[in-house]
Amino acid sequence: MSSDRDFDLVVFGATGFTGRLVSQYLARTAGADLRWALAGRSLSRLGAVARDLHRAYGDRAAPALIEADVSRPESLAAMAKRTRVLLTTVGPFARFGEPVVSACVANATDYVDITGEPMFVDRICERYGSQAEDVGIRVVSCCGFDSVPHDLGAWFTVQHLPRDQPIELRAFVSSKGSFSGGTWQSAVQAMGALQEFREQRRTFGRQPATDGRRVGSLPQKIHYEEALDAWAVPLPTIDPQIVLRSARALSEYGPDFRYGHYAKMRSLRTVAAAAAGVASIVALAQLEVTRELLLKVRSSGEGPSRAQRERGWFIVRFHGKAADGTEVVTQVVGGDPGYDETSKMVAESALCLAFDRPREEGPCGVLTPTVAMGNALIQRLQRAGIAFELVRGG
Ligand SMILES: NC(=O)c1ccc[n+]([C@@H]2O[C@H](COP(=O)([O-])OP(=O)(O)OC[C@H]3O[C@@H](n4cnc5c(N)ncnc54)[C@H](OP(=O)(O)O)[C@@H]3O)[C@@H](O)[C@H]2O)c1
Repeated sequence: MSSDRDFDLVVFGATGFTGRLVSQYLARTAGADLRWALAGRSLSRLGAVARDLHRAYGDRAAPALIEADVSRPESLAAMAKRTRVLLTTVGPFARFGEPVVSACVANATDYVDITGEPMFVDRICERYGSQAEDVGIRVVSCCGFDSVPHDLGAWFTVQHLPRDQPIELRAFVSSKGSFSGGTWQSAVQAMGALQEFREQRRTFGRQPATDGRRVGSLPQKIHYEEALDAWAVPLPTIDPQIVLRSARALSEYGPDFRYGHYAKMRSLRTVAAAAAGVASIVALAQLEVTRELLLKVRSSGEGPSRAQRERGWFIVRFHGKAADGTEVVTQVVGGDPGYDETSKMVAESALCLAFDRPREEGPCGVLTPTVAMGNALIQRLQRAGIAFELVRGG
């Protein structure tokens, strides 16, 4: 695809834990003709990442280096101007994300990130939705484990159900994995800003129109799920918000779409332990002094070792039911959710925008992964080893 820009794709945050994995994934898998660059605030640290890539993968698709810092907007503009797609892993996004989106909108550059922070995503929809549409670009947040398997898995499932019927869809998430310092910093800061988030929701909480269709949540309560022989615990992540946004945008979700998002847990004891753990962290994150102590638990830049990641996995099982009695069970299955698969998901999302989905074919604006990329991204992820499977029915 020809372009007057220097690069197809820039990885901003390439010196961070996830950014390095994204860079490795691209160096390992992308064709020699990919024009790409690593970006970050230190050229010497970027050089070290590039040397590691060279040692591991030779000269194949060698990236250029770009110095850019969130605190210097002119450096973000200069970076955004040079690329067709900007992929960013610079988080916490509530703190560092908005200037990067703003630079992309101002310079007509497609954008993908790996945030899972609802406050940031709401703010970006509110402030940049119509500008991104006017400029004709795609701004796509949540292209990592939050929320690609859930959003695209729901989309994959509704395509196996009748289009003209009300649909109830339940997703049950099981996973094993550890987390990085960057994820920990982002989660603690998001929990510390819960009050601010509630206030923002009151101002920004408007939902887009659905052409008369109905879209909403299933009751969110802990219950025993016979079909799974396990407890289903509502998961307070950003994923249901993203799935419902896709359902509001696309008529394929039918006249009345209801979604429930749950963690699958074997025993009530595990449920109680998880709830107590989360409640304690939320409580400690409310006061500056205890929040600072929490932030010291895991530092930015570190994360699970390769051996730990190799033991990671996830399965998201979807149970869909249409009002005419049609039932379907599907699943999305992959390896280490937080890092190996997240880096794959976001890299494939950026490649998908750059090569599979021309802007002119639309839609443009602040979009979910499903609305921006849909089946083109599912195909890429399947080729990359993430399974989207029909288990039963359909
Ligand atoms: N949704 C998901 O599934 C998922 C999965 C993984 C990660 N994440 C999110 O991704 C983010 C990154 O995680 P991580 O573990 O990779 O974190 P990390 O290792 O701490 O990396 C953060 C990156 O941000 C860069 N950075 C910090 N301040 C900057 C500034 N002022 N200008 C430019 N760059 C700056 C850092 O650069 P330096 O190297 O120069 O410090 C580093 O490259 C977090 O928000 C995390 O929650 C989400």
